[in-house]
Amino acid sequence: MFTIITGAQFGDEGKGKIVDMMAEQYDIVARFQGGDNAGHTVVADGKTYKLHLVPSGVLFDSRLLIGPGTVMNPEILMKELSMLADNGVKVTPAKLGIDAKTSIIMPYHIALDTLRESKRAVKIGTTNRGIGFAYIDKVGRDEIQMADIADKKRFVKRLEEIAPQKENAIKEMGGDPNIVRSKIDEYIETGRKLKPYITDVSREINLALKDEKKVLAEGAQGTHLDIIHGTQKFVTSSSTVAGSACAGLGVGPTKVDNVIGVIKAYITRVGEGPLPTEQKNDVGEHLREKGGEFGTTTGRPRRCGWFDLPLAKKSINLNGYTGFALTKLDVLGRLPMLKICTGYELDGKIIDYPPESSDDLARCKPVYTEVKGWDEDISGVETLDGLPDNAKEYIELLEKLMEVHIEYISVGPGRKQTFIK
Ligand code: GDP
Ligand code: IMO
Ligand code: MG
Repeated sequence: MFTIITGAQFGDEGKGKIVDMMAEQYDIVARFQGGDNAGHTVVADGKTYKLHLVPSGVLFDSRLLIGPGTVMNPEILMKELSMLADNGVKVTPAKLGIDAKTSIIMPYHIALDTLRESKRAVKIGTTNRGIGFAYIDKVGRDEIQMADIADKKRFVKRLEEIAPQKENAIKEMGGDPNIVRSKIDEYIETGRKLKPYITDVSREINLALKDEKKVLAEGAQGTHLDIIHGTQKFVTSSSTVAGSACAGLGVGPTKVDNVIGVIKAYITRVGEGPLPTEQKNDVGEHLREKGGEFGTTTGRPRRCGWFDLPLAKKSINLNGYTGFALTKLDVLGRLPMLKICTGYELDGKIIDYPPESSDDLARCKPVYTEVKGWDEDISGVETLDGLPDNAKEYIELLEKLMEVHIEYISVGPGRKQTFIK
């Protein structure tokens, strides 16, 4: 069985929590795109793990894979592995595999990301992790791959070939070109340590599926940050939609069984770009404070707003969801009235689907349906029937509007605070 999980909004929907919850049932959990711009939180047994690269199934026995469609900073991976080891979670090569073709994030990618962002008149608000520039090199065929850093000679030769153009680019942007060759020894040392982890991810997954094993693909970022279909230019540099799992892991689309969208009961966004239902008021403050809406990777406050149905409809089309995991329902508690954006007003017309251009989306005025909130604390509720009537009605309305089944409901960050609807 092959299940794909993606974020249905702008990231931070709670993918880490949902993947952890499902991982026990899966033999393999694999990351297929993005890099350490991702920050996936898993709360288990009183501990909080903030994972950037290691798949969120790490606390179970599943095999973990980092696919060739990702971009990987080896320094960050090593830190993460030692953080896990400090918490008693040993991630050996028998547990984690990294594809030989995984793109490596080099110090110059981070420098270029920072320099470019500082020069942008209209900022994107990137995570400054070098993601965009690593993907530029992948597409430009100037990447360094996992297998390269694991082979000293090959790495040095490859870097020699690439370094001059990177030095020029950094110099031109007013940066220090010495960064390009600054960490060669560290990369060689890390490459040596990571060599035993190298694998062929596509082969492993296809063999597992042939053996009727269960594979879970863990998306990073969110649908509307997709490089092709997202709110350009305020997007990340990889494809975040479900189809990307097939391309990124090397699994044919005929093998996909389920596609689960993780979606918050409201919406958030970190960084710049349109967010039509954003609430820069007490409601936004309530969501941010109660929902702990601060970036897992950068600590930046997340922008918060009401649930946006047009964006959800687009997500459903882009991913082909077979079901949803609705998260953070508890956060809506104590708001007397809740709003769901069912459409937008744009240039005097009412539309029920996002316009293609980000400029147009930014001009959209939300049209809301109001529903009554609830006062009860629902973070301990374990069944649908245990929810206050107004919370049940809110879920049912969302399901009716989205026309996709909500399979899981999450009412808190902990593993046990989820139930099947
Ligand atoms: P991801 O990037 O999609 O994995 O999401 P993040 O981990 O960046 O952000 C989600 C945050 O919400 C984390 O701090 C989670 O622990 C927390 N969280 C997840 N589900 C729930 C929930 O149902 N209720 C509450 N209150 N917090 C949740
Ligand atoms: P997870 O996996 C939320 C946002 C950044 C910025 C834009 C581009 O935790 O959901 P980048 O560094 O990727 O070039 O930045 O994308 N962004 C995220 N927002 N969650 C994420 O990951 C994100 N990863 C990138 O804030 O707006
Ligand atoms: Mg996150």
